[in-house]
Amino acid sequence: MKTSPMLSPLVLFLLFSLAKGLNPNCDVHEHGSTLKVFHVFSPCSPFRPSEGLSWEESVLQLEAKDQARMQYLSNLVARRSIVPVASGRQITQSPTYIVKAKIGTPAQTLLLAMDTSNDAAWVPCTSCVGCSTLKPFAPAKSTSFNKLPCSAPQCKQVPNPTCGGSACSFNFTYGTSSVAAGLVQDTVTLATDPVPGYTFGCVQNATGSSFPTQGLLGLGRGPLSLLAQTQNLYRSTFSYCLPSFKTLNFSGSLRLGPVAQPKRIKFTPLLKNPRRSSLYYVNLVAVRVGRRNVDIPPEALAFNPATGAGTIFDSGTVFTRLVEPAYTAVRNEFRRRVSVGKKLTVTRLGGFDTCYTVPIVAPTITFMFSGMNVTLPPDNTLIHSTAGSITCLAMAAAPDNVNSVLNVIANMQQQNHRVLYDVPNSRIGVARELCT
Ligand SMILES: *[C@@H]1O[C@H](CO)[C@@H](O)[C@H](O)[C@H]1NC(C)=O
Ligand SMILES: *[C@@H]1O[C@H](CO)[C@@H](O)[C@H](O)[C@H]1NC(C)=O
Ligand SMILES: *[C@@H]1O[C@H](CO)[C@@H](O)[C@H](O)[C@H]1NC(C)=O
Ligand SMILES: *[C@@H]1O[C@H](CO)[C@@H](O)[C@H](O)[C@H]1NC(C)=O
Repeated sequence: MKTSPMLSPLVLFLLFSLAKGLNPNCDVHEHGSTLKVFHVFSPCSPFRPSEGLSWEESVLQLEAKDQARMQYLSNLVARRSIVPVASGRQITQSPTYIVKAKIGTPAQTLLLAMDTSNDAAWVPCTSCVGCSTLKPFAPAKSTSFNKLPCSAPQCKQVPNPTCGGSACSFNFTYGTSSVAAGLVQDTVTLATDPVPGYTFGCVQNATGSSFPTQGLLGLGRGPLSLLAQTQNLYRSTFSYCLPSFKTLNFSGSLRLGPVAQPKRIKFTPLLKNPRRSSLYYVNLVAVRVGRRNVDIPPEALAFNPATGAGTIFDSGTVFTRLVEPAYTAVRNEFRRRVSVGKKLTVTRLGGFDTCYTVPIVAPTITFMFSGMNVTLPPDNTLIHSTAGSITCLAMAAAPDNVNSVLNVIANMQQQNHRVLYDVPNSRIGVARELCT
């Protein structure tokens, strides 16, 4: 693509927003091992859309990103290589929540996307081709930076390692992007904890639109993950509270390590899929709408490591996606309950097929996991337009072009809850909490 020598006002505005970085009012001091978590649309996020989007536009944008996210996750579990989304539209699927990390000596601040379904950490580095950030990480300015040699054991844990000179490089796909990076080490500081010699990818080349602007912090549990590299410090334990995108002024928190985690919280066991060890699988046994358990064929919920089928918690998908028969059963019962004694017309909005243009009384939805029932209040199951003119059930079936076997408990359904990932005890906990 050729760029015109005259930058359009929109591009200038965008460049300005990116250069500005974190709004100074948002430059909060972080304490101990707790990081602030911002929604990408938050006033504190430099990545928020430069033009005020209408409610409908933002919902549709998030929903479109989810389609790419679902494709990414489905390909991940099925070990298929990536197929670009069949659409002329440019769809990015970078995750929805960001945290601040300081990298190098002296520290350079980057805002990394949080992704529980990914292991690696990577940031765009100076001279990256195809990275859109104006302030990439500058290795030359850090006195603690090192490139890892090909002989380093970590070089065997990355996908497609290659040796350029003697330094280890690797490449991988993320969503619809393909990315090439050098394997490097530097001090990474999360909240107030410095982690010296942290191994991550220094991105040199990225194509496609899925690449998170300032990089990624993978919270998966595989080799080279944050959990694996900070085993002594954080004991493979973390929790987060994700703020609702209805209260964008609020930040949530990412709390690392076993200290200060909630004691009174319900747990469900984590399941291990040896084919995809980094994903957080759980056993969803039933879904209740109001007081009725809906009739879902057991195979729609069953965990199957061979096909990757089952249910995961994911921080990067926005709206919960259920496999087709499970979604249809939930939606039908939801519609039945909403229209008891009334004649209501159901409409669509983008990928949402259960919307109403009059106020409704919605039933609660309970996800019943092994040992843990999570009953969601309407704030977690309904999206309302700001004008109050349309209300939709905030869930969907897997998109048509994605042959998905995965149920994904997504971030809208996790908002204003503390979700505790306790890997040593192989369990995940959920408790209501207002993130502020
Ligand atoms: C990624 O690495 C593999 C194996 O080293 C190589 O064959 C392939 O060309 C690389 N792809 C890109 C896009 O660099
Ligand atoms: C970047 O990737 C593109 C597409 O894979 C490739 O054509 C190009 O040579 C790469 N550039 C560098 C500097 O690696
Ligand atoms: C969000 O914060 C801005 C700036 O601090 C303030 O002007 C605005 O009223 C706040 N909005 C809400 C909904 O609290
Ligand atoms: C979940 O709810 C069902 C139905 O009310 C109940 O039978 C079951 O014991 C509950 N499970 C837990 C772990 O509380």
